[in-house]
This record gives sequence, structure tokens and C-alpha cells, in this order.
Amino acid sequence: MRYPSSRALPLTAAGAIILMSAAFVISAQAQSAQPAPAPAGPSPTKQALENRKAAYTLIGNYFRYFGAVAKGTAAYDEAEATKRASRIAFLSGLLDENFPEGSNFGEPDSKAKADIWSSRADFDKKLKDFQAHAQAFAETNAKEKGASDTFKAAIASLAQDCKGCHETYKVK
Ligand code: HEC
Repeated sequence: MRYPSSRALPLTAAGAIILMSAAFVISAQAQSAQPAPAPAGPSPTKQALENRKAAYTLIGNYFRYFGAVAKGTAAYDEAEATKRASRIAFLSGLLDENFPEGSNFGEPDSKAKADIWSSRADFDKKLKDFQAHAQAFAETNAKEKGASDTFKAAIASLAQDCKGCHETYKVK
């Protein structure tokens, strides 16, 4: 018995879908038997190095303006200062996850001293302090809204965190 072609077509299409999904299941099973391929791109430690360097570069670029405000060579601008202070506070929070064990070794591009990993508790404390101070700095900026003595002192204090950590943990 012959079906009209208008009924035969959906049946054929459904059959094709079943066959295709069966083929998909079989090929998925075949793939899962293979060893997992190595993830593409740089190793996790290399990525950590790139991330922290990028974060520090941005922190440096956003912070430079405040150095000029403290010296009086740049005018204080509330919108500019607020944007920069909040960026620094956010970026400081990206640092801890980007100093994993071993992420300086064999990396000629890194200026991180091996002491970071041998004095981990001290380094982590310096980092936590910096993050807290970066947050406080954004709050001081929001309160002061100008290049007051209080705000200039906050700039100097945050700059001291950069210097203090670099002296101990960063190659010149
Ligand atoms: C808790 C420690 C610590 C603090 C705080 C810190 N830094 Fe750094 N900084 C480092 C280390 C370590 C490196 C080197 C990272 C690497 O190369 O692996 C670095 C690198 C840098 C770099 C070079 C980035 C590059 O690769 O070109 C700049 C710029 C920088 N820091 C700016 C600052 C500024 C500005 C501050 C303060 C607002 C600051 N840092 C606070 C530890 C710190």
C-alpha cells in the first residue's frame, strides 16, 4: 500500500532524526573513551602571570593621576577621581587568585620574587592590606570630593603600599 507523499515525508524526516541522534550518541561514546585533550592556550600558571601583570599595569595607569593630584600638577576632577579610585579597588581584588604556586618559575617575563611563595603569609597580608586600603581610598575620595589634605594623605598612604610591596617582592 502506498501512502500519499504528504504523509510519507514527515515519517522519513522523523526516521532521519532518529538515525542522526543514534549516530551522535555513538560518536559521543567513542569520544569519551579518548583521553581528554590538553586545554588549548597558555598554561594556568602562565595565564596567572599574564593576568596579574595586566592588573598591575592597569592599577599603575589608573593611579598615576592621583600622584599628579597630590603634587598639584593635575586638577582634581570628581568624576575622573571616582572612576579611577573604583577601578583600582576592583583591580586589586583580582590579584590574590593570580599568584598560584610556581607561577614565577621558568617565567623570564615575571618580576615577582620567589620570596612571595616562601613568605606567603607576609605577602598575602600585604595584598589584603592593599585591597582594604584601595577600598578605603575610594570611600575617602567619595567623602572629600577634592584635593584636601585628608585626600592627599590617603594618596600617599596607598602609594606606600605599592612601594612597600615592591621593595620586598618585586625585582626592580
Ligand atoms: C602586595 C604586593 C604589591 C602591591 C601592594 C603592589 N604591587 Fe605592583 N607588583 C607587585 C609584584 C609582585 C609585581 C610583579 C608581577 C610579575 O611580574 O609577576 C608588580 C608589578 C607591578 C607593575 C608592573 C606590571 C608589568 O608587568 O609591567 C606595575 C606598573 C605595578 N606593579 C604598579 C603598582 C601600583 C601603582 C601599586 C599601588 C597602587 C602596586 N603596584 C601595588 C606587587 C605589588
